[in-house]
Amino acid sequence: MKKKLVSLLTVSAMTMAMLVGCGEAAADTATQAPAAETATEAPAAETAETAAEAVAETAGNADLADKKVGVCIYQFADNFMTLFRTELENYLISQGFSKDNITIVDGANDQATQTNQIQNFITQGVDVLIINPVNSSSAATITDLVVGADIPLVYINREPDADEEARWSANSWNVTYVGCDARQSGTMQGEIIVDLGQDKVDLNGDGKIQYIMIEGDPENVDAQYRTEFSVKALEDAGWTVDCLDDQVGNWDQATAQQLVANSLSAHPETEVVFCNNDAMALGALQSIEAAGRKVGEDIYLVGVDALTEALEDVLAGTMTGTVFNDHIAQSHGAADAAINYITGAGNDYYIGCDYVKVTTDNAQSVLDSLK
Ligand code: GAL
Ligand code: CA
Repeated sequence: MKKKLVSLLTVSAMTMAMLVGCGEAAADTATQAPAAETATEAPAAETAETAAEAVAETAGNADLADKKVGVCIYQFADNFMTLFRTELENYLISQGFSKDNITIVDGANDQATQTNQIQNFITQGVDVLIINPVNSSSAATITDLVVGADIPLVYINREPDADEEARWSANSWNVTYVGCDARQSGTMQGEIIVDLGQDKVDLNGDGKIQYIMIEGDPENVDAQYRTEFSVKALEDAGWTVDCLDDQVGNWDQATAQQLVANSLSAHPETEVVFCNNDAMALGALQSIEAAGRKVGEDIYLVGVDALTEALEDVLAGTMTGTVFNDHIAQSHGAADAAINYITGAGNDYYIGCDYVKVTTDNAQSVLDSLK
């Protein structure tokens, strides 16, 4: 017993060490089996569009108006997930569900709260569940609960690990994941910087790129992969990187603002600020401006999501670039997958979609497409 406790403590100490500090989070993910890779390579993988085609063929047959959908969102106070859930609800209604039969609940970033909400949905007898888990590591418990109640399950946004996904196919369960491969978004962030050319980015001319990294929730594979793959894109281009600071901003603007203010005063030589999402990049921008710095002139800044405000910053030159996290394709893909379970058409175990690199060249067209 005592020994077990000690080893648990050691593991949590290691986990803590992994959360902060340059390069450590990246090294940790590199040793994990990449969930998305296994999934994207599986022949069963399909795209959100092919799922939509399947729905187009079957939707007419289903009487969706009396079907009940339960939707669990990890936290309503998340900019990106707000866009996602709004689009999800509108699209479900456009496909024939009644607004009264769609219940969307806020997990308030607490897994115990969310697990209760899932239990309530099971008691109410919903026809399908769409779940954005608070902790991806709780997916096995969630799946057992939902599958045990014979309710089909569509995971969104926070991808369960490879072992968990393997269970769904091994047991032929009605469980799938709809989302994008976060490695692609990280790579695109790095490429936006690389495309500027090393002479432009290496402001102090020391042959290295001094950067700071602001991470999302480190339990989330999106944060892990974006941290790792953004920097990897610079290294793959033959650039030498120098990590000055790596902090956890938990996807939150105000937290990131504070972190970047501290980082910039400790490390004025910072050349690039990588943020795992746009909300944090917007916070970073406030601190960059407060420090009297100018994006595009004496510092570079990239995010992910393509929030409207971030796209406006890209157009104004106050953000170097972002990556469009397609909440429209993902929410439609999730709704289509839910419909496919209801109609009996079924789904593959992984439904992917692509990110889009956004710079001044295409920010206006992305903005127009979102209006
Ligand atoms: C990411 C997104 C973040 C945050 C996170 C929540 O995909 O880029 O802004 O919403 O999901 O899990
Ligand atoms: Ca430099």
